[in-house]
Amino acid sequence: MSERNLEQLIYKLRDTHALTLGEYETLIAHRTPDAAGLLAAFALVQKQQIYGNDVYIRGLIEVSNICRNDCLYCGIRKSNVNCDRYRLTKEDILECCAEGYALGFRTFVMQGGEDGSFSDAFLTGLLGEIKNRYPDCAVTLSLGERSMDSYRKLREAGADRYLLRHETADPEHYARLHPANLSWDNRMQCLRNLRELGFQVGCGFMVGSPYQTDAMLAKDLKFVETFKPDMCGIGPFIPHKDTPFREHPAGSVDLTCYLLSILRLIHPPVLLPATTALGTLAENGREKGILSGANVVMPNLSPASVRRKYMLYNNKLSDGAESAQALDSLKKRMESIGCTVAVARGDIIK
Ligand code: 5AD
Repeated sequence: MSERNLEQLIYKLRDTHALTLGEYETLIAHRTPDAAGLLAAFALVQKQQIYGNDVYIRGLIEVSNICRNDCLYCGIRKSNVNCDRYRLTKEDILECCAEGYALGFRTFVMQGGEDGSFSDAFLTGLLGEIKNRYPDCAVTLSLGERSMDSYRKLREAGADRYLLRHETADPEHYARLHPANLSWDNRMQCLRNLRELGFQVGCGFMVGSPYQTDAMLAKDLKFVETFKPDMCGIGPFIPHKDTPFREHPAGSVDLTCYLLSILRLIHPPVLLPATTALGTLAENGREKGILSGANVVMPNLSPASVRRKYMLYNNKLSDGAESAQALDSLKKRMESIGCTVAVARGDIIK
């Protein structure tokens, strides 16, 4: 692959927002620092045209680390007996929202394991209360796979957005990351259901997850190109000591940033977080993500007492600039790279 040919792929991506599967794979396999620089420069132009210098913030509330699933990569998997389990109450969650609102958050993300106690009745009651108290805020749910009927009730109760990473667009890869009772088809069906119900929908995947190949990443990019999600969360895989993948190496920060730039060019309006995993692996990981094309950060609003328990992977950040209370430091970090933290719902601009 000559430099010139790689450049041509990047121009094609910028101008048409699409490549073939083979071209995506080539772009990934032949990654160079020059290519990364060019992609990032084009990605920043696209982001600037739509979102200016704004970075959107989301208050992340980790509502429960109790999970019925046994995903092989995840630190809160059911069979991890070393995980100290917790579940926030309705009052706890409302308190997080109050604190977040005062800090300037206008989106609350309730994320958790697939905890059977989060019935539709509980969640619709909670959503009603949040929407009643904070009508100017968006509520995002990230609670895994549920039935169409359940998603409908949550939507009718006021949930605006739903995050459900597809994890990998390759069904065979999916089967190597998950136990046999979880299916790629159902995951993809959930994403389509959420869209049909009018949610702003987020998908996403890990970078450098075990057994992942460039061809698989190309499929992830093609999926984003065709599905056109409103949000797309990507971050490096990081091993967790109490999982079967404990010995697998972490994903690459540079490749994650490279893919962020590509995703921005594939679907320019997409809301792209610079994730906690990226911030965990590199000192300036989130800044790097923003400078590659990301435009969202999701500081942690969970109560301090449970933060260290939502341990999806080793050394997951939960304080410092990662915490909502340290918003001032986040604002300074963002200003140091020419960005402004917006006090806004931060919906997708199409
Ligand atoms: N490393 C990085 N990301 C992880 N996730 C779960 N476990 C890990 C890990 N070990 C991601 C998954 C999930 C999201 C909530 O966190 O992609 O969808």
